[in-house]
Amino acid sequence: MSKNILVAVAWPYASGSRHLGHIGGAYLPADIFARYHRVIGNKVLMVSGSDAHGTPITVRADEEGVEPIDIVNKYHKEFLDYWEKLSISWDNYTTTMTENHKDVVHKIFLKLLENGYIDKQKTLQAFDPVDNRFLPDRYVEGTCPKCDYTEARGDQCDSCSATLDPEELLNPTSKLSGNPAEFKETEHFFLKLSLLGEDLQPWLDTKVDWRPHVINWAKSFVKEGLKDRAITRDLEWGIDIPVDDLGNEKKIYVWFEAVIGYLSASIEWAKNSGNEDSWKDWWENNEAESFYFIGKDNVPFHSVIWPAILAGYGNLNMPTNVPANQYILIKGEKASASRGVGKSLSDYLSEWQPDALRYTLASVLPEQSDSELTEEEMIRRNNEELVATWGNLVQRVFTQIKNNRDDIKNLSSIESVDKKLIDEAKLAFENIGNNIESVELKTALQESMRYVSKVNVYLNETEPWKVIKEDKDRASRILYTSLQAIDACASLLYPFMPTTSKKVSEAIPKETSNSWDVNEIKIGAELTEIGHLFKKFD
Ligand code: MF3
Ligand code: ZN
Repeated sequence: MSKNILVAVAWPYASGSRHLGHIGGAYLPADIFARYHRVIGNKVLMVSGSDAHGTPITVRADEEGVEPIDIVNKYHKEFLDYWEKLSISWDNYTTTMTENHKDVVHKIFLKLLENGYIDKQKTLQAFDPVDNRFLPDRYVEGTCPKCDYTEARGDQCDSCSATLDPEELLNPTSKLSGNPAEFKETEHFFLKLSLLGEDLQPWLDTKVDWRPHVINWAKSFVKEGLKDRAITRDLEWGIDIPVDDLGNEKKIYVWFEAVIGYLSASIEWAKNSGNEDSWKDWWENNEAESFYFIGKDNVPFHSVIWPAILAGYGNLNMPTNVPANQYILIKGEKASASRGVGKSLSDYLSEWQPDALRYTLASVLPEQSDSELTEEEMIRRNNEELVATWGNLVQRVFTQIKNNRDDIKNLSSIESVDKKLIDEAKLAFENIGNNIESVELKTALQESMRYVSKVNVYLNETEPWKVIKEDKDRASRILYTSLQAIDACASLLYPFMPTTSKKVSEAIPKETSNSWDVNEIKIGAELTEIGHLFKKFD
């Protein structure tokens, strides 16, 4: 029975280039997961878009002396190029600047207001008395009250992931002028998390299969007692508030509207698909499942605040799982575009084959804890695992078959070594499928490569290049079995390395067309020439 699976991926701020850490943190795991589910016949809707609003964009525009829209356009275009090069298979990748998104945000805002989950409250906001301006979110920095990190921002601490209000910072200063911030009274709309929080505890209690770091964070956040949070800001750049009683100097807070993007992007996809209501199959059908692929700094918003908004709105599916990743550390530092650590993604994309990049990143996915990545390690994996173990296996078998095609006609009966290799492939499909469904993607890749190694061992033990001189039928059976196993490897590796795996699959003429199981191969058919799959680095 086919399932509807929403693959919801964090919306990258269109405020700077992405780096390897972002790709391994959210986009690649989402794509692996989505591709697998499509292959096994589920209906996948994979959405995201460029996050166009908020102070990350305006701070960048201020720094460069340009308009926010110029920043957004520049990076949105750059992101589209990444997705194409890396084969990230979006069903819809849009932006938060569309009319559709604004309409959906307004609809949700108004409904929450009507349901009593949004109200107006007087609040103190950071203010620069010299520059005479409010300092929302990232315009103010200071020391985190929870972990003492000295470069915490007004919205969140990068070190402990706590969501903050600017007035909680110790020694708050303006990022623009360096002046100490003062606090001035102003009025804002608030999301009444104090009311919405109650329902979240029992819901989180049902999430026994979430990653420990995610569920523990979410539960303790709720347990501390959720406070109402301002969802409007003193900012000119952003989505207008749908009621006009605060004047038009204020806009909706980026975090309130960006998470709504998952819904609005699904609605936009449905409109484009010609069946306006089809988004409901992923959002209103309670058999549908939704998975949110994000980095750990986004955990509060996806495991608590977005579910609270959904609960307050009513009748929409809550997240099935939020498989957030920790960080990929490049020589011990968090890979970060904003802090300029690590080589740029564009550098890697020009030097590396996309599948090789996907492979090396997938091998170190920081699913449970931060993981290290060095360029030496990437090169080692490329050369030893992709080139020597996988690429070479394909090459060896393809060459044997090509050179002896006239002799490969009759298969001898199957021996126990052959049967074992094929039985192991069947088991691999089952186990690796389970790994992917429970979002243990790094394990899934390791297990796939373990199977590739077994095929190498089989070949070394059976030595078809020797056997063919004495017993052509036996050699035919060995090569047939090897090819069948290679076809299985290509299917297993497809979610991780779609381009090269497809190339291998398509080169092998088959009697059956299982995309997630062992296939019967056509005996004696010609294999398409595919050359070397991967290139070796010196
Ligand atoms: N733009 C945010 C970031 O880069 C992520 C937003 S995810 C969303 O951290 F769901 F809110 F859009
Ligand atoms: Zn902190």
